[in-house]
Amino acid sequence: MRRFVIVGHRASTTGDFKLDDVCGGAGRLDVLLRCVNSSFFLSHSLRRDVEAFLVMKGGEDPPKTLRFVGDGLRYLNPDERSTASLVRNALLRKVGDEEVGSSPGIFISRMDLGDVLEKLAEVSEIIYLKEDGEDVRDVTFDGDLTFVLGDDRDLDEDEEAILKKYSARSVRLGPLSYHSDHCITIVHNELDRRQ
Ligand SMILES: C[S@@+](CC[C@H](N)C(=O)[O-])C[C@H]1O[C@@H](n2cnc3c(N)ncnc32)[C@H](O)[C@@H]1O
Repeated sequence: MRRFVIVGHRASTTGDFKLDDVCGGAGRLDVLLRCVNSSFFLSHSLRRDVEAFLVMKGGEDPPKTLRFVGDGLRYLNPDERSTASLVRNALLRKVGDEEVGSSPGIFISRMDLGDVLEKLAEVSEIIYLKEDGEDVRDVTFDGDLTFVLGDDRDLDEDEEAILKKYSARSVRLGPLSYHSDHCITIVHNELDRRQ
């Protein structure tokens, strides 16, 4: 299983944004939408063995986490606008203490980064994608993997402290600073080639 956790520092946690304004009013939701697409889409199919978590920290009702499960996903299309619409529908759901389903393969909860990693650390190795980490080409991967990355901003000190708690390895994907969705594509490619 491959998992991606993307921290949306300003991403809207209410569904009152316009689909035409995901870059502005929705707090750079566009970055997260592209990450969803990179997590799941192959040329003519979806990766079913992937889960993506959008940890949304902006707007008026934080925190919220959207969980996308490849095995159950339906209605996900490659265009950002339709993914934005699925996200907006999820954000419009009433969420209490328990995770709730929004549409097939999409769930929403009140989890923050710490809650998400606490759950995942039980079943998965946590890897922090960081520009000054160990070169991915020197790293051996085994088993269930969770990759954590920032949106258009790097993780802050508090978020890094959470990763430290779970002994996350820092891994660098290459010599440059890449967009978050491109990082996910690179990770997939790196792991695909090793399988
Ligand atoms: C667009 S970058 C964040 C901002 C970027 N550091 C800058 O100064 O413009 C988004 C995230 O992708 C990941 N990332 C980007 N380049 C990377 C690299 N070369 N190796 C590992 N992770 C990378 C990091 O998690 C980063 O927080």
